[in-house]
Amino acid sequence: VRQWRGVIEEYRDLLDLPDLPDGIPAVTLREGGTPLVTSEWLSGLTGADVWLKVEGDNPTGSFKDRGMTAAISVARSEGARAVVCASTGNTSASMAAYAAKAGLQPLVLVPEGKIAAGKMAQAILHGAQVIMVRGNFDDCLTMARRMAEDYPVALVNSVNPVRLQGQKTAAFEIVDFLGDAPDHHVLPVGNAGNVSAYWMGYTQYADLGRSTRRPVMHGFQAAGAAPLVHGSPVADPETKATAIRIGNPASWHLAVAAREESGGRFAAVTDDQILSAQRELARRDGVFVEPASAAGVAGILQDLEQGRGYDGTVVVTVTGHGLKDTVTALEGVGPLVDTVVDADPAAAAAAAGLDGP
Ligand code: F0G
Repeated sequence: VRQWRGVIEEYRDLLDLPDLPDGIPAVTLREGGTPLVTSEWLSGLTGADVWLKVEGDNPTGSFKDRGMTAAISVARSEGARAVVCASTGNTSASMAAYAAKAGLQPLVLVPEGKIAAGKMAQAILHGAQVIMVRGNFDDCLTMARRMAEDYPVALVNSVNPVRLQGQKTAAFEIVDFLGDAPDHHVLPVGNAGNVSAYWMGYTQYADLGRSTRRPVMHGFQAAGAAPLVHGSPVADPETKATAIRIGNPASWHLAVAAREESGGRFAAVTDDQILSAQRELARRDGVFVEPASAAGVAGILQDLEQGRGYDGTVVVTVTGHGLKDTVTALEGVGPLVDTVVDADPAAAAAAAGLDGP
């Protein structure tokens, strides 16, 4: 059996990585190759063929690993000793893991008190120096950029174009699997690197003749952090979906180009819609994602309520694993079912309401 080699080795000839010479091996945890899973639930509701691209199945539990293998490989090949990123959590978890693998020192800047516990644990366990900033993600990113200019540390946020080279491989995988691009692509949007990367990937495959079309891109933001919907930065972004609590996306222009060229749009969904979509997806499709990752599903549900339909093939990227943030996930569930019984099958059966023998 051939093992999936990670996105750089699988797609090397399609990635623009001039600073990673051919002979130099990538720093990889064999990211990518994630499943496309049918959503019977969303297919039934829409009448379209709806697929989930389950990015929580990446090595550190989010899509960030696709870009990080590229960024850390290049940083190592250029002789960097330390790497820095600003993050709402997933980028820092991913960077810390790949830096550990590469023998680089990871330095993480995160907004104080706004990082899910699972992501924080990942960064710490992988050996990152975690610095909490009194400010939001946008402040952290400004700091990270300045630090990379003034100190001996390489920046691996998605403003580093190498990151998007890695991330666009998700679009390649989708076309390779489906045989063509989908009609619609739906995903959450925060710093807007991912929507830009997908569009690059779809465009490249169409230009190469590997697909006959490009999808309409539908990007969903949290209502309290929806600068691309409003058309201007948000000074104090707020949402329970902390991964996308971002007011001034770095890839603004690329994202707007993706929207315009695809005939797509950006729209907002509330935190209640996001958390409810997260629960429904877990219960109906068996896929547990973190809150931000459910924004695309929440968007589809909102569209259906507003009379906006989907047709053909729809791919929804669910960006990160539900285990990253169990506290927020459980918030909306209500009182926990904490039935305690003696070690007795009859007692458990009675508590569960099963008919007796
Ligand atoms: N979903 C999750 C789970 C994320 O962690 C992010 C971004 C997004 C969606 C949005 O993707 O920024 O490319 O538009 N997380 C970044 C981080 C900001 O620091 O982990 P985007």
